[in-house]
Amino acid sequence: MEYETIEVRPMTRRIGAEIFGVDLTRPLGNQTYAEVREALLRHQVIFFRDQQIDHDAHKAFGAAFGPLAIHSAVKGIDGYPEIVAIHADENSKFVAGEDWHSDLSCNEEPPLGSILYMHTLPSDGGDTLFASMYDAYEALSPAMKAFLDPLTAVHDANPVYKALFPDDPRTYPCNTHPVIRTHPETGRKLLFVNSSYTTKIAELEPGESKAVLEYLFQHVKNPNFQVRFRWQKHSIAFWDNRCTQHFATWDYFPDVRSGYRVTVAGDRPF
Ligand code: SIN
Repeated sequence: MEYETIEVRPMTRRIGAEIFGVDLTRPLGNQTYAEVREALLRHQVIFFRDQQIDHDAHKAFGAAFGPLAIHSAVKGIDGYPEIVAIHADENSKFVAGEDWHSDLSCNEEPPLGSILYMHTLPSDGGDTLFASMYDAYEALSPAMKAFLDPLTAVHDANPVYKALFPDDPRTYPCNTHPVIRTHPETGRKLLFVNSSYTTKIAELEPGESKAVLEYLFQHVKNPNFQVRFRWQKHSIAFWDNRCTQHFATWDYFPDVRSGYRVTVAGDRPF
C-alpha cells in the first residue's frame, strides 16, 4: 500500500515502524484509519510520538480497531474499566510484562492488540522489546514446523496472577490454543506459545512438553526477531498481540514509569 496520509518509517526489516502525520487526540479519518491498520498488520508493532491523549481519546483510538476488552485479572482505573494503569515506582515489587508474553493469551479469545500510552518516564531505561512470532515460526526447520503444526498448548493465567495476588481467591482464565496459529487477517503462520502463560503442550508427556516449551521460549528471545522501543513522554506503542510478544525492561528502579493501556478484543486462535 502507498501511504497517502501518514508517513511510516520501518525500524527494522522484520518488525516495528514509527508512524508520523497522525493526531491521535482526534478521530482518525477513514483513509488514515485504513493506513494505520495496514501499517500495524505489516510491521506488527507501530509507534507514535508526541501524542498527549486523555482517557477518552485513548479509548476512542482503541475502539476504532474493535471492541475494547476488560482485563481478566487487573482492575481498570476509576471510571474507565477498559483502561489499566501500567505503573512502577520505588514501592513496586514487580512490573507488568517482565517476562516475554503476548497479552492474555490465557483468554478464550486473546486480544487483537494493545495500545500503551506513557506519560511519565525515568530519565533513562524502561524500554520495551517486541518480537515477531512470524519470524520465530519462519526460522524453525521444516521438520520442527511439521512436528509443532498439529499440537495445542494450555495457556493458564493462574500461576501468574496467584503468585502476584496471593490473597485474591479468584480463578483466572485457562484455555488451549494451537501452538502454530494462523493470523486471521494476514493468513501468515506464527508461533503462539509464551513463557508467561503457556504451561503445557497438551498432546505431549510432561517431560516432553517441558523440554519443547523450554526450547521454544529460548527460541523466541532471538534478537534477530526483535525491535526495541525507547519511550519518550507521550509516546504510544500499538502492538498486534496475535503475532508478537513483548518484554518490559525494569532497569530504572526506584524511578517512576507510568502510563495507561487499552486492549482491543480478539478472536479465537485457529
Ligand atoms: C505490558 O506488558 O503491557 C507492559 C509493557 C510495558 O510496560 O512496556
